[in-house]
Amino acid sequence: MRPGPWACPLDTGAALLAGPGTRRYLNHVAAQVAVIEGDGIGREVIPAAITVIRQLGLGLEFQPVNVGAERYLQTGEALPEDDFAQLEAADAILLGAIGDPRITDSRYSWQTLGRIRRELDLYANVRPARLLCGRLSPLRDPGPRAADIIVVRENTEGLYSRMGGRFKPGTPEEMAIQEHVSTFRGVTRILGYAFSTARSSVVLADKWQAMPHAGALWQRCWRDARDAHPDVPARHMSIDACALHMIAEPWQFDVIVTENCFGDILSDIAGGLIGGVGMAPSASINAATGRALFEPVHGSAPDIAGTGTANPAAAILSGALMLRHLGFAAEAAAVEAATAAALEAGECTADAGGSLSTREAAVAIAWRLG
Ligand code: NAI
Ligand code: MG
Repeated sequence: MRPGPWACPLDTGAALLAGPGTRRYLNHVAAQVAVIEGDGIGREVIPAAITVIRQLGLGLEFQPVNVGAERYLQTGEALPEDDFAQLEAADAILLGAIGDPRITDSRYSWQTLGRIRRELDLYANVRPARLLCGRLSPLRDPGPRAADIIVVRENTEGLYSRMGGRFKPGTPEEMAIQEHVSTFRGVTRILGYAFSTARSSVVLADKWQAMPHAGALWQRCWRDARDAHPDVPARHMSIDACALHMIAEPWQFDVIVTENCFGDILSDIAGGLIGGVGMAPSASINAATGRALFEPVHGSAPDIAGTGTANPAAAILSGALMLRHLGFAAEAAAVEAATAAALEAGECTADAGGSLSTREAAVAIAWRLG
């Protein structure tokens, strides 16, 4: 792994753009990107994203890693050790989606995507939602900045720790406990990440009154984080009020930081504000090690897989986040601008109001990059 400006995958302004990491790969060994297309439309949108990135001529090395339902069904192995080692060694991982209707067992996802997030300790799930084209907003009268929100979701603990158990399963007395886990280390680092990502403000969304134990820990860490960043305007909101305000007044938000499950839900609201899952990118990052995974927010969409109609924008915008992470900030901004221009021109897939196929929509973006 190379050291670099890992702390922020997003365009936070001049500091990152002018940072020492920018374009560093041009003078050194090419960055290695491990690519997992995965399942369903992952196999369509990831090649589309790579077409767009290759157009930039940056000399990135894309190394395919064969993780997917087909292999799991044939061999019973979800993610063999050699492949995991390849993911660990890469400078970034680009992933399509994991999920196949033939596999109902949750171990498949837990041993693939879950394992990557867990063992690489990718604690910050960053989901930027910027409205690229007014037509895609569900709001009646979206302004030019109708949504430009970054949800920073804690990605390793919270309600998704899988701790708990079932008592007397299958009987009328059955009881289930699903634990929420928050640690001082986990909360401190996600709040620190949120402040480092902020362009104008940070909102902490939680439910401290109803979850007083975890709430007290989050409030303690929140006070410390605010004290450490006196220059960043910061507010605390109830998660339910935050959900309402995201729809009623999305322009008031910059960074929203929250625990795992709340972040999962809020980031889908944010995705809805920019045109749906086909538009929403994500990054999962460990700012200390520099390890990072980039993937669209959507899943494998088995209902449209194989039809060539999937919107590649979420995967392409995830690719742009990856470029920024690798030090190519200007190129990342160019990909985002080209995506916005293609959408504005109606050169996109049907879900975004166009009539192009996945491949044609990617070519429409790549063509704008010259
Ligand atoms: P999904 O995101 O795959 O699909 C939800 C709806 O959105 C579908 O109607 C689909 O056609 C549409 N859609 C999704 N992506 C689109 C795109 N790029 N362009 C146009 N339309 C798009 O979610 P769903 O159906 O709940 O899950 C399907 C499978 O994907 C399941 O196995 C699930 O576990 C998995 N999944 C995987 C994720 C991941 O790998 N990170 C995330 C979410 C779901
Ligand atoms: Mg979700």
